[in-house]
Amino acid sequence: MAADLAIEMLAITKVFPGIIANDNVRLQVAQGEIHALLGENGAGKSTLMSILFGLYEPDQGRIKIRGEEVRIRSPNDATALKIGMVHQHFKLIHNFTVTENIVLGLEPKNKWGNIDLSRADKRVAELSGAYNLAVDPKVRIENITVGMQQRVEILKILYRDADILIFDEPTAVLTPQEIDELLGIFHRLKAEGKTIVFITHKLKEIKAAADRCTVLRRGKYIGTLEVAAASEQELAEKMVGRSVTFRIEKAPSTPKEVILKVENLTVIGPKGVPAVRNLSLEVRAGEVVGVAGVDGNGQSELAASISGLLPVKSGRILLKDRDISRETIRKRNESGLGLVPEDRHKHGLVLDFRVDENLILKNFRTGQFSNAAGFLQFPAIASHAERLINQFDIRAGNGPATLAKSMSGGNQQKIIIAREIDVSPDLLIVSQPTRGLDVGAIEYIHRRILAERDKGKAVLLISFELEEILSLCDRIAAVSKGAVVGFADAQNADERRIGTMMGGIGDG
Ligand SMILES: Nc1ncnc2c1ncn2[C@@H]1O[C@H](COP(=O)(O)OP(=O)(O)OP(=O)(O)O)[C@@H](O)[C@H]1O
Ligand SMILES: [Mg+2]
Repeated sequence: MAADLAIEMLAITKVFPGIIANDNVRLQVAQGEIHALLGENGAGKSTLMSILFGLYEPDQGRIKIRGEEVRIRSPNDATALKIGMVHQHFKLIHNFTVTENIVLGLEPKNKWGNIDLSRADKRVAELSGAYNLAVDPKVRIENITVGMQQRVEILKILYRDADILIFDEPTAVLTPQEIDELLGIFHRLKAEGKTIVFITHKLKEIKAAADRCTVLRRGKYIGTLEVAAASEQELAEKMVGRSVTFRIEKAPSTPKEVILKVENLTVIGPKGVPAVRNLSLEVRAGEVVGVAGVDGNGQSELAASISGLLPVKSGRILLKDRDISRETIRKRNESGLGLVPEDRHKHGLVLDFRVDENLILKNFRTGQFSNAAGFLQFPAIASHAERLINQFDIRAGNGPATLAKSMSGGNQQKIIIAREIDVSPDLLIVSQPTRGLDVGAIEYIHRRILAERDKGKAVLLISFELEEILSLCDRIAAVSKGAVVGFADAQNADERRIGTMMGGIGDG
């Protein structure tokens, strides 16, 4: 068997201040295999893959690539070993074309020493054709979808001849359809003899694409399973070490007064054309209203305009009967609006701040955390952070003092959710709240969102996952092209009918 192994990581240990991210971990991946890496938020998956790609050096352990012992000190070493990695947050230059991004650093030159972009375009088109990636070499990154950008990242490593491909949560940013397409691409890459390791929290994807799955828990190696022989339930239990419920029970809602009223709202999107068109909806106290739709149908702009990140072109937004359409973001927050934004790095966190600081971004000015002279009250800030870290199971190596940027993706997301839910705003807007979270964390967050509802708060949920919408919402607004196509009662909602409405077809 050993000769057929593409990757062998043995007894890998990596320590960060306050935490053992990898504790004697093993990973064995066969040549030509699709191998999934599964584990809770903070289990050490990204760390292990960063070691394989030369971003970190392990404190202990050995790595063999295609049977030969190697030391991978940098991504350049990894590239030379034909290892490529697609990171969770893409590293593309937005005003460059697809080809310019792909050849960056390896630009082909003509005989006068100038960059020969037409030769590069040709090579990119060839590669794109060979793997059926359907990428146009000449378009600029800023004009293509996230799914397309990911294909550019894949082409970038194929251009460098990689035959071991690492993907860190590649599906977290994709729509359900793009996910299917990516899993299809995995199968084609495998058919061409490539070896793939991918990280995901979605057990369905593991079942659909992976041959084997290695499970980590709190930095430790738990085991490697044949996927065909394991159920989703088994995978989940291996991962968290206890049984998990996938569906949560909820009582019927008792909606009260209208908290959010959106009237004939039109919002201009980043491309200069209306992204939200004449949209109206209401959210009452004590109910969860879900906005269901395919990514890019105005959901982001709807949330951005309610929270004050984007201006309103026409129409009104009323919060508890007060027009907030033109108010500042701070004023809106003070009038009872909470937001879990879609883009956690851009709008949710200050990555260079500590956990405790990120947890008070919205309310550090209040008497709870500042005294009359405006000085921060550090003991109160520390105990507040300790409490939320415990409640939301935020895994941070140095506790409240941990820098947000050093934390795992899922734990960063938990900071934002904890901060926004804890203040219990009258209106809570949650956009893709469980993106990147493990199944245990999703279960907890869903419970907390429903608890807000049951306290009489209004919740507006935006999610691309119909499953999440169906399990949390009381009412559903299906949107397409920036407009509401129809409303449905979640109680007897039919998944197919909502799907049809998301495609733009209402029921007249
Ligand atoms: N550069 C770093 N400095 C300090 N601690 C780090 C660093 N990178 C990771 N850690 C810590 O190591 C642990 C493992 O992190 P890692 O990112 O590998 O988790 P993960 O399994 O990828 O989780 P997620 O599913 O949330 O992405 C976490 O507790 C994290 O806070
Ligand atoms: Mg990670």
